[in-house]
Amino acid sequence: MNREDIEQIKAQIEALKCKTAKEVEEARVQILGKKGQVTRLFEEFRTIDKDMKREFGKTLNELKQTATAKIEELKAALGEENSAGVSGQDLSMPGDPLPLGSRHPVSIVREQIVEIFRKFGYDVAEGPEIEDDYHVFEALNFPANHPARDMQDTFFVSAGHINPLLLRTHTSSVQVRTMERSSLPIRVVCPGRVFRNEAISARAHCIFHQIEGLYIDENVTFADLKQALLLFAREMFGPDTQIRMRPSYFPFTEPSTEVDVSCNICHGQGCNVCKGTGWLEILGAGMVDPNVLEASGIDSKKYSGFAFGMGLERIAMLKWQVNDLRHYFENDLRFLSEFSAAPEV
Ligand code: PHE
Repeated sequence: MNREDIEQIKAQIEALKCKTAKEVEEARVQILGKKGQVTRLFEEFRTIDKDMKREFGKTLNELKQTATAKIEELKAALGEENSAGVSGQDLSMPGDPLPLGSRHPVSIVREQIVEIFRKFGYDVAEGPEIEDDYHVFEALNFPANHPARDMQDTFFVSAGHINPLLLRTHTSSVQVRTMERSSLPIRVVCPGRVFRNEAISARAHCIFHQIEGLYIDENVTFADLKQALLLFAREMFGPDTQIRMRPSYFPFTEPSTEVDVSCNICHGQGCNVCKGTGWLEILGAGMVDPNVLEASGIDSKKYSGFAFGMGLERIAMLKWQVNDLRHYFENDLRFLSEFSAAPEV
């Protein structure tokens, strides 16, 4: 063992250059491997006498450190220079984007309507989809066997019972449950899924969604109803929107009305969406019938209220001019993905 040999090996190591990972590995084996230059020097070191050991011990350790550091340095340089790595792929490339889902148009409309009424001070109430006859009909002033029940074809869950279970045909049942348990005044909107035994077509479905509103307090008048609906229509369809009320009939409201908004497509000129009338029907409403208030234990001499209800699919159809209701239930991604960047009307 002599100093010059060691210096020479050290110089060789320091001057090492490698282009590929394979070359670095070969160099590591040649220097630090079992039979590598440095390893062999350490073996020789064991056999030399004490004086020499003192002289070479430190030098050899330094040589090993230099070699180890150099190999690490070469490996790191490879990684930076060529992120393609061993597999030949560029690991710095951005990944394939994961397709994000989008909100269902009915959800978008529901949230928008809830948000508008929240601003007016309304809470949100929910109730069961499987209901009993009492909450869907009886408490809402539909007498047993009254023909008004045929306005809403019902799916029964249990038949022949005094108070049979059924799939709710409207969310007015949630209003009954709210009147039963809340203290007055009441101001709620009730969004939810409803069911009617109807043939499926472009204009009707056996499952759809409604949102209903209920406001009960002292001295609530028809003027309050009109104002609430006008403000709602302007928030929903634009500040120039007009509303028009037509007399109608619901067992649970008296007087009852059907409400139209001015067509926001032709602005009253008449187009094929409003069928040339300039108006679009959007909801049913009225003053809560005193019988309905009394059935839920509310003093109809002291309190009065209004209620309104609308179909979410209908509003979404008008908003985005979708002409077939069935699109909302088929979950075709080509349809659903249209709404990720849906424009605000
Ligand atoms: N429940 C009625 C329906 O489903 C809508 C409505 C609600 C009408 C509240 C008036 C008042 O047709």
